[in-house]
Parts: sequence; C-alpha cells; structure tokens
Amino acid sequence: MRVLVTQDIDPAGIAILMRAGLGVDLVNSDAPIAEVVLRFRVRGCDGLLSMLTDTVDADLMDVSQLKVISQHAVGVDNIDLDAARERGIVVTHTPGVLTSATADFALALLLGVGRRLREGDQRVREGRFYGWHPTLLCGLELDGARLGIVGMGRIGRAVAKRAEAFGMEVVHHSRTSGMALDELLETSDVVSLHCPLTPDTHHLIDASALSRMKPTALLINTARGPVIDEDALVDALRDKRIGGAGLDVFEEEPEVHPGLLGLDNVLLAPHLGSATRVTRRKMATMAARDLVAVLSGQEPTHRVA
Ligand code: DGY
Repeated sequence: MRVLVTQDIDPAGIAILMRAGLGVDLVNSDAPIAEVVLRFRVRGCDGLLSMLTDTVDADLMDVSQLKVISQHAVGVDNIDLDAARERGIVVTHTPGVLTSATADFALALLLGVGRRLREGDQRVREGRFYGWHPTLLCGLELDGARLGIVGMGRIGRAVAKRAEAFGMEVVHHSRTSGMALDELLETSDVVSLHCPLTPDTHHLIDASALSRMKPTALLINTARGPVIDEDALVDALRDKRIGGAGLDVFEEEPEVHPGLLGLDNVLLAPHLGSATRVTRRKMATMAARDLVAVLSGQEPTHRVA
C-alpha cells in the first residue's frame, strides 16, 4: 500500500510508516504542496498524511483510492469531513500533543505585544536606544488584567492556567459555558481566540465585535485566521480603536493583509503555535500511527470522521 506525506515531517513519523511496510511518497519542500501537484501525487495512494495547508475536498478524494486521511494537526477545517464520511474514508487528527506548545505561544504573543517587544527590538537595532526612560514603550501589566478566552477546549484551558500564574483574571466564552461574547469583549484587557474554525466562528471577530473591545485591549489569535475579519482588524488597529494584536494565523494564509505589515501595534508570526521539536515529533508519530492503524484494519486512536 502507498501513502503520500505532503510535507517533510519529523523522521520518527516516517519511520513508523516504513516499518509498517508502506510505500512512502514524501514531498520534500519548504512550501506547502500546490493543489494541482497534490491531486496528481495522491493518485494510487491508500493513505494521505495531510497538513493543514492542504485542501482535502471531494474532488481530491475522487481522484484517489484513499482509505484514510491522517491530519498532522488538531484543526481539520481544510478537510471536507462530510465528503470523507460519504466515501467511507476515515479521518484522524492529532489532539492533545500540541496543547502546551500552542498555549505557550499564545502567552508569548500576549507578552510580546503587551510589553511591546517588537517595537523595543526595532528601536535597539536601529540605534535609537538612548538609555532608560520612565515613559519608554510602557505596556500592559498582566497582574490583575482580565483575559477573555474564546473557546475553552484543551488549549483554552491551558492558556487559562498559564495566565493565572501571571496573576491574570480569566473569563471565558464557549458554546456551552462562560459569559456572553459581548460581555467578554467589553470587559477584557486581552482577548485570546481558541475556537475551531467552523461556519459559526468564521468572522466571529468582525467590525462590530472589535468595536465592543476596550481601546487598550489586545487581541491574540493562535486559532485560525478566518475567525477574524482582517479588514476590520486592520481598520481597528490603524485607528487605535483597540490596543494591539498578536497574530499567529491569517485569513488568507500564507498571505498577510498588507495593512498589517506597516502597523507598530501588531506582532506577527508565521503559524508557529505548535512549533517545538518535541511537539512536532509527537504530531508526526501520532498521525503516522493512526494512518497505519487504519490501513491495518484497526480502529485509530484519534478519529474525527
Ligand atoms: C493545528 O494543529 O491545528 C495547529 O494549527 C498546528 O500548529
């Protein structure tokens, strides 16, 4: 049986596939595989080890003989789950193993934008550090500030735990618990997004939501770009209607809204939430094991469809 691995993953994952006797077709490139290339290379494959950058739709399923799609990510918004179900294709993902890394990164963005690290770094590099100054680049004090978490799943809870260690007061909004979103937006000093991308959460943070936030509030997104209406965010940041933003994900990833690039009050990262060596190894091995399980006729551990 043949499997296609659409990006260079940790070798421990590849070793699992090879030890299982699978023919492994590995895409070795620095950039996500182009859609047309993916469609071509998936022909004849029984398994797909996919990335969040791959569009895995009904057409792709129809040109292949896939039995399993094993996603090297927890989010599966790039996969048409209904189409997979209709075709009897099992879909798996990698929950849990990236919780700590992603929560750490949300805090890194929060601290980075809250304490104005980007502006400070730039000032030093440009030779504009003239000595300590009482009013230079003053930012947010975490102790006592209110953090509003949108989406209280594993990662949301892990962010809450970390924020509490910094003395933050944590509130949350989720589908099943917590306060109303409007109240959270109106009263939080920092809003951090941890919900999956679904039709319900697409543009959840739009112009109207942004207008409810405090003029000093920070918005952190390590979830999915389209949860925020980026045009509206650029307007709000440019007009200083909110304090700042820390973004690890973008609406048209890997494109970044040009309006964000010139703003001082935003910290930008290239989707690094889960990017620790330990976590990426765990994601690769978990995805590989579940792919092997399905092709060996066993039930996978982390099935989503
Ligand atoms: C995921 O797993 O969905 C993350 O976005 C990857 O970092």
